[in-house]
Amino acid sequence: MIELEIDRIATGGDGVGREASGRVVFVHGGLPGDVVLVELVREKKKMAWADIVEVVRPSPMRVVAPCPHVTEGCGGCDLQHASAQAQRQLKLSIVTDTLQRLGKIGDVVPTFGGAVAEFGYRTTVKASVVDDQAGFFRRRSKTVIPTPDCQIAHPALRDVLREERFSGQAEVVLRVSTATGDIAVSAAPASGAVGMAHSGSPIEEVACGRTWRLSPGTFFQSCPGAVELLVDAVAPVVAAAPEGPLVDLYGGVGVFAGALGAGRKVTVVEANVAACADAAFNLGSDATVVASTVEAWKPTPAAVVIADPPRAGLGRAGVDVVLATGAPAVALVACDPASFARDARLLVDAGMRLESAVVFDLFPQTSHVEVVGAFGRPD
Ligand SMILES: C[S@@+](CC[C@H](N)C(=O)[O-])C[C@H]1O[C@@H](n2cnc3c(N)ncnc32)[C@H](O)[C@@H]1O
Repeated sequence: MIELEIDRIATGGDGVGREASGRVVFVHGGLPGDVVLVELVREKKKMAWADIVEVVRPSPMRVVAPCPHVTEGCGGCDLQHASAQAQRQLKLSIVTDTLQRLGKIGDVVPTFGGAVAEFGYRTTVKASVVDDQAGFFRRRSKTVIPTPDCQIAHPALRDVLREERFSGQAEVVLRVSTATGDIAVSAAPASGAVGMAHSGSPIEEVACGRTWRLSPGTFFQSCPGAVELLVDAVAPVVAAAPEGPLVDLYGGVGVFAGALGAGRKVTVVEANVAACADAAFNLGSDATVVASTVEAWKPTPAAVVIADPPRAGLGRAGVDVVLATGAPAVALVACDPASFARDARLLVDAGMRLESAVVFDLFPQTSHVEVVGAFGRPD
C-alpha cells in the first residue's frame, strides 16, 4: 500500500497521482487535493492503477455519494463523490487538459456552458437484467446489480426500475417522455440475443419548442434540457455561417436540423434506419434525410456542417467528409474529450481554426462530458 496525493483528474474520472519513482498512478475515486492510501490493482512500467483503501486527507471537492448503489459497487456513476460544482470544474479541466496534451491545441481556452439537473435527469436508461430486475454492471465486472434507487434516472423510470420485472430479458431500454409521461420499454431476450429487439411504440418528446417522434432504438440526448443546451451552443455557429445548405451529420431523429435549419436547404445523414424514419417524420419536407453512414455518404456542398458523432468521434474518414463539403463553418458536438481533441487536431491540420470549445455537464454524477467546438476558416 502506498500514500499518494492526487493532483488532477483524467478522462474517465480517475484521480491521478505519482509515486516517489515518478510513475503515474490512476486512482479510482481519487479527487484533486485528496491524500489517499491506495492498493495497486494493475501495474505497467510507466503507469499503474489503484483503488483507495483510506482517504487520509479529503479533497475540498469531496462529498458523501448520495446513492446507495455506489457503496454496493454500481459502475454507473463514477463521480458522485464530488460536489456538483466540483464535477463541472473537473470536466472543464479534463477537456482543457486533453485538448492541450492530445490535440496540441493550447490557444483556445474551453469555457463551461451549462449543466442539466444534478439528479433524476435521464429520460433514457439502458439497463441489464439480473433475476428479472433491471440494473447496472458492478464496476470492473460483468456482474449486474439491481439498481431500484438509481438517482440519475428520471423519477418515472426509477419507478419502473423498482417495480417492473423483466422475466426472460437480457437488456432493457426504458424511455420516458417528459411531455406526455408516456413510457416506452424495449427489451432483448436472454437467449441468443445478438442485439436489441427494438419493439414497442414511439413516444413524443418536446425540446426547443418542437415535438420529436422517438422510436425505440433511436438516440436521444440525456434529457430535453440537454438538447436545448447543445442547440443553443450550436446556434451561433449556424447564425454566423454564410447563406447556403446545412448538413447535419450523425443527425439522429433530426434535432439540430429541425431546431436550426430554418431558411436553409437541409440534409441529415444518419445510419440508424429507425432514426432516419423519425427524422423524416419530424422534419417533413424541410429536409432530405439520407440513410447512410457518414463514411459512405457522397458529400454535397454546405455552408455549415453540424457533426455529432458517437464516442469514437469523426476519425480521419469523418473529418474527410466534413472537409469535402467545403463548409466554412463547422460545429463539432463531441461526447468524448479524447475524440474531440483528435478530431480538432485533424480539422486544424486541414486548415480550419478552432474558435471556441464549450463544455457541458449533460451526465452529472458521471465522468461523461460533452463539448461543442466551433470551427471556422482563417480570414
Ligand atoms: C451522438 S448521436 C447524435 C444524434 C443527434 N445528433 C442528436 O443530437 O440526437 C450519434 C448518432 O449517429 C448515428 N451513427 C453512428 N454511427 C454512424 C455513422 N457511421 N454514420 C452515420 N450515423 C451514425 C447513431 O445512430 C446516432 O443517431
